[in-house]
Amino acid sequence: MLVLGIESSCDETGVALFDSNSNTLIAHALHTQMAMHAEYGGVVPELASRDHIRRLLPLTKHCLNNANKNYTDIDAIGYTQGPGLGGALLTGAAFANALAFSLNIPVIEVHHLEGHLLSPFLSEKDIRFPFLALLVSGGHTQIMAVEEVGKYTLLGESIDDAAGEAFDKTAKLLGLPYPGGAKLSQLATLGENKKFEFPRPMINSGDFQMSFSGLKTAVLTCVNQQKQQHNNSLPENIRNDICLAFQNAVVDVLYRKVKDALKHTGLKQLIVAGGVGANTALRAKLQTLNAKVFFPKQEWCTDNGAMIAYAAAQHLQAAHKAGGFTVKPRWNLSTI
Ligand code: KG4
Ligand code: ZN
Repeated sequence: MLVLGIESSCDETGVALFDSNSNTLIAHALHTQMAMHAEYGGVVPELASRDHIRRLLPLTKHCLNNANKNYTDIDAIGYTQGPGLGGALLTGAAFANALAFSLNIPVIEVHHLEGHLLSPFLSEKDIRFPFLALLVSGGHTQIMAVEEVGKYTLLGESIDDAAGEAFDKTAKLLGLPYPGGAKLSQLATLGENKKFEFPRPMINSGDFQMSFSGLKTAVLTCVNQQKQQHNNSLPENIRNDICLAFQNAVVDVLYRKVKDALKHTGLKQLIVAGGVGANTALRAKLQTLNAKVFFPKQEWCTDNGAMIAYAAAQHLQAAHKAGGFTVKPRWNLSTI
């Protein structure tokens, strides 16, 4: 079965073709809107939707050409139904449903976080169910017990900002361009350890809930103090030390919560997915856990069509499918 995957939940248009018979991704294409939103310091939803409309068809044609396939070779279309920006989701939903209607093939609605969660399967062949999953993206930070495709139990999540959101907001207050998460982690490699110490919110809460918004406020207070001491500017070395101290705090909290969740569930495998899963310090620390740890390839950490095509193919094989033109801007993964 040839499955076309469409991702348009936020600021990336992702399209991919997955062949479920050979279990291979045969083409993928991505357009990131990062540069377009950068001048506004964040994603502008209306601009995002309009850009998805411009990109969906050319990216799909590009994938078909690269794979040497025609529209009529596609057997099913999976698209991100939610969660995400309503308008942006609608562009992918409309495109997927219209194309599927014209080809008379099924449509599979995919939960964006399920796409992330299953993305390590695109490159790893040794993952076996059940496993623990840490989803760390710009919009969500969740720890889930995964029994099989479609059976997800939420153990804990951030009660306020997601880890990626905390990275981005902290980067912004340090004067880094949007989206600053990856840049902040680069600068952290230049920082000196223990120059600053930030709180580890809820680390001892005894459950799997997390909180990251206070951390950003602690960084703001520190930045203001440093600026007062340095003629109203923030020297680069101090900025880098702050980046490292912030990153250490986030990594420590995620590590501890995951460690406790592994112990609580008795699971021996961990999957880490979502944009923050690209963070090398987080990867290194999680690899010291007493578990087999799997990450997606760097290119599948952030939003992409491949993970949506893969998740759709799994649902198609398991025959969990529904069909219908709708979007779900807010959607809890444990309810699917
Ligand atoms: O999964 P994703 O593409 O989008 C959502 O579904 O939300 O994740 C994007 C998030 C952004 O917040 C970005 O700053 C963060 O992932 N991110 C990173 C790194 N690369 C991307 N955060 C920390 N370190 C990185 N290397
Ligand atoms: Zn995402």
